[in-house]
Amino acid sequence: MNATGATEGDGPLAGRHIVLGVTGGIAAYKAIELCRRLIDAGAYVAPVLTEGAQRFVGAATFSALASEPAQSSLFDGPHPIPHTRLGQRTDLVLVAPATARVLSDLTTGRSDDLLVATLLATEAPVMVAPAMHTEMWRHPSVVDNLALLRRRGVVIVDPESGRLAGGDVGEGRLAGPERIVDRAIELLTAGSEPAALPAGARPLPAASGDVGMGWRGRRVLVSAGGTREAIDPVRFLGNRSTGKQGHALAEEAAQLGAAVTLVTTSELPTSPAIERRQVTSAAEMADAVLEAAPSMDLVIMAAAVADFTPAAVADCKLKKADGAPSIELVPTQDILAELGRRKPASQVLVGFAAETDDVEANAAAKLERKGADLLVVNDVGAPGVGFGHDTNEVLILGHSGERISVPLTDKSAVAARVLECAGALAAARAASS
Ligand code: CTP
Repeated sequence: MNATGATEGDGPLAGRHIVLGVTGGIAAYKAIELCRRLIDAGAYVAPVLTEGAQRFVGAATFSALASEPAQSSLFDGPHPIPHTRLGQRTDLVLVAPATARVLSDLTTGRSDDLLVATLLATEAPVMVAPAMHTEMWRHPSVVDNLALLRRRGVVIVDPESGRLAGGDVGEGRLAGPERIVDRAIELLTAGSEPAALPAGARPLPAASGDVGMGWRGRRVLVSAGGTREAIDPVRFLGNRSTGKQGHALAEEAAQLGAAVTLVTTSELPTSPAIERRQVTSAAEMADAVLEAAPSMDLVIMAAAVADFTPAAVADCKLKKADGAPSIELVPTQDILAELGRRKPASQVLVGFAAETDDVEANAAAKLERKGADLLVVNDVGAPGVGFGHDTNEVLILGHSGERISVPLTDKSAVAARVLECAGALAAARAASS
C-alpha cells in the first residue's frame, strides 16, 4: 500500500524498496514526478527530504504520492533510529536532485541530517542524480567528489544541458525523471536479466557497480600515450598525447578487478597490479599490442599512434650546416584496424578518435573503417578536452546506434563510463551467444 491507500502495482520495480532522497535545489520539484514514476513502476518508495528541499517542495506532496510518509528529521519522526531503519531495509538509495553539499557530505562521511545518515547507514546501492549551476558542476571540488564516489561504486546519473535557475542555460540540469527511473530499473534488475542490445537501439549502459563486477578476473589490454618516431638519435616526430586517459582506463579496469596489461609510451606511474610494457614508436606499439591482444576480453586503443614515420633514421645527428633535411615519411601500420580484422568473436574492441571538425560524421566513418565495437570520440578542439588535460568530454559511439555523451568530467570518470559501455556490450553478447 502507498500512503494514499493504493496497492503497490506490478512493474519492473515491483517488490523493490527505494529511499528517495530529495535535496534543496530548484530541481526538487522534478522529484515529485520521479516519485510518481517509481511508484508506477511498482517500487515501494520512502521519501526523505532535507531541510533545503523543503524550501522548494512540501513533505505533504511526497507523503501523498509515496508508499510511506516523507521524513526529514533524525529526531522528530515516529522511529527512534530512522536512518538505520531506512538504510537497512532498502534495495536502493536514490538522491535526486543531489546538491553539491550532499555529494560533499557523502564523500567525507559528514552526517548531520537524516539523508546523509541514511546514505552512510546503508549497504544497498546508491545512485545520485546531481543538479546544480554549470559553474558548480565544473568546480574541481565537485568533479573530484564525483570521481571518488564513482570509484566507490556510487552510480551517477549525469545532468543534462538546458535551462537552469535564474534564466541561465548550461550543463547541470537534473536528468529527466524517465532517465533516472530507467537507470534504477537497470541497476535493480541487472544480473537477473542481462539486457540484449536490440538492433538500432541506443541503450544506456548498465550501472557502474554491476558492470564493474563483469570485468573482474577478465583480461583487459589498454594502449596509451603518443608514439615518437625517430628522425635521428636526438629528434623525433611526436604528438601532444600524454597518456592520461589511457592510464586512467588501465587504473579503473584494475580497480574493477581485471587483469590489466598496459602498453604505454608515457612516463606516468602505474599501480603495481598493472602489467606494464613500455614502448616508444608506432612499430614497437604494434608489436606489443598485436602480440598481447588475442587472449584479451577487452582491448582499448587509447594511444595516439603516429600515422607516418620517417622512412629511414639517420645514424648520426643531422647537422644544421648540412641544410634543412628533407624527411621522407612512410605510413605506419594501423593497429586498431588490424585488431579489428583479427578480433576473436567474444572480444570487445574499443578505439579512440581525436577529431577537430565534422566530429561525429568523421567518427562514425572511423568506427566502420576500423572494425571497432565502440569508438570514444574527443573533440580535441574544445576547451578542457583531450591531450594533456585532466578532464575530458567524449561521445561514445557503437555499431547498433548507441550514442552516449559524457559531459566534461575527470578522465577517471570517463574511463568508468567507457568500461561500463564495454561491459554492457560484453554482457549483451554473452546473453545472445
Ligand atoms: N590508431 C592505430 N594505429 C594507427 C593510427 C591510429 O591503432 N597507426 C588508432 C588509435 O589508437 C585510435 C584510432 O586508431 O584508437 C583512431 O585514431 P585517429 O588518430 O583518430 O585516427 P586515424 O586513423 O589516424 O585517422 P585520421 O588521422 O584520418 O583522423
